[in-house]
Amino acid sequence: MGFSILTQKHGKANRRMIHSLFTNSKFLLLMERTIQKKVESCLIPVLDYISQEANGFDLQDVFQRFTFDNICSLVFGFDPECLSIQFPEVEYEKAFNEMEEILFIRHIVPRSFWKLKKGLQIGQEKKLTESLQIVEQFIYERIASKRKEVNSRSCSATSEIDLLTAYIEEEEKGQKGDKYLRDSTVNLLVAGRDTLSAGLTWFFWLVATHPSVEARILEDIKDNIFATKETKFSVPGRNELGKLVYLHAAICESLRLFPPVPYLHVCATNSDILPSGHHIKPNTKIYYSLYTMGRMEETWGEDCLEFKPERWITYTEGGEGRIKNIPSYKFIAFSSGPRSCLGKDMSIIEMKMVATAILWNYHIKVVEAHHVSPSVSIVIHMERGLKVKLTKRISI
Ligand code: HEM
Repeated sequence: MGFSILTQKHGKANRRMIHSLFTNSKFLLLMERTIQKKVESCLIPVLDYISQEANGFDLQDVFQRFTFDNICSLVFGFDPECLSIQFPEVEYEKAFNEMEEILFIRHIVPRSFWKLKKGLQIGQEKKLTESLQIVEQFIYERIASKRKEVNSRSCSATSEIDLLTAYIEEEEKGQKGDKYLRDSTVNLLVAGRDTLSAGLTWFFWLVATHPSVEARILEDIKDNIFATKETKFSVPGRNELGKLVYLHAAICESLRLFPPVPYLHVCATNSDILPSGHHIKPNTKIYYSLYTMGRMEETWGEDCLEFKPERWITYTEGGEGRIKNIPSYKFIAFSSGPRSCLGKDMSIIEMKMVATAILWNYHIKVVEAHHVSPSVSIVIHMERGLKVKLTKRISI
């Protein structure tokens, strides 16, 4: 057993398929409605409830649960409801987290070391086998239930479509089987869950520690979406969110400083010479740091370490703010080239929805003496979470 996750990349055909799904209007509709509904009927009520905690609570944990529910809804059309006021322990979500942690360790210890442990089924490799079994069982159950659902209804009748349904419908053109569906869906869960939750956590920490940015985001929302606090709050849709230029800039700026995927590696198939003049032999592995590239003075200027959303905005002669077009090899958080992130637009929309909902309704304060530091893992989370206190906004 063993999934292809984290080691095998999507083939070109699979990448084309995911790209066409992510731009499919039925999927985009599902994405918009799923996130809006989740924010309004779950995230906000949970925050209302836990904001009464006198000692604060871990916002990172909230985002981990929120993004797991969302990605499962988008991939399987099924919400595991990990985010609720009971903060339930969901077995396969826990197994999924363990699986990711242990797979990361495989990247940093010698191959022979973890292979030996795997062969003997001891230590973390034993734990990994157990976690994989739980995750695999969950995914196979979802596939079986989705196959039944797809067979029993006419697809043209639905206006929204989740990714597994699309995969199953596509599969009819050439049988690929449950194992293919398992690997494809688990890859999407890995790609789209922790990245987003880490992106959200660092974004809210930066905003909470930069009051002038928070004030400008609120102004942006007020000028473009909700004129006053009396207007009933509902999560804006994609088109409305497009007007929030300053918020967009603040999100890009936080992803520049804290790219959720801090480093990547590639392997040379042939010998090559890099632009720096370095000669590369075939099979050479090259690690590169997205984290460092987002903080280089020669690329971003003297103020490269400062959180300044303004650097992303250009103004027309009429004074209208627009997002600057910054090439992906410079703003590298979503990588660049043939393996770049396919979920970039979706991520920015989801982050904007969550940011609008939380910032419009609450003021966030990081709990005093809570020390924030990045974790050492494939995705940079916060080592001890993000402990915050929320205050409900009365008027703006
Ligand atoms: C802030 C959020 C996100 C960030 C920073 C991010 C970043 C990245 C990066 C750096 C890669 C390249 C990985 C590599 O070369 O090994 C990648 C790939 C990918 N991402 Fe994202 N991602 C985010 C959210 C998402 C979401 C929500 C999805 C949707 C499910 C997604 C889907 C993908 C896919 C399918 C790939 C693989 C592309 C391929 O191999 O051809 N990502 N992402």
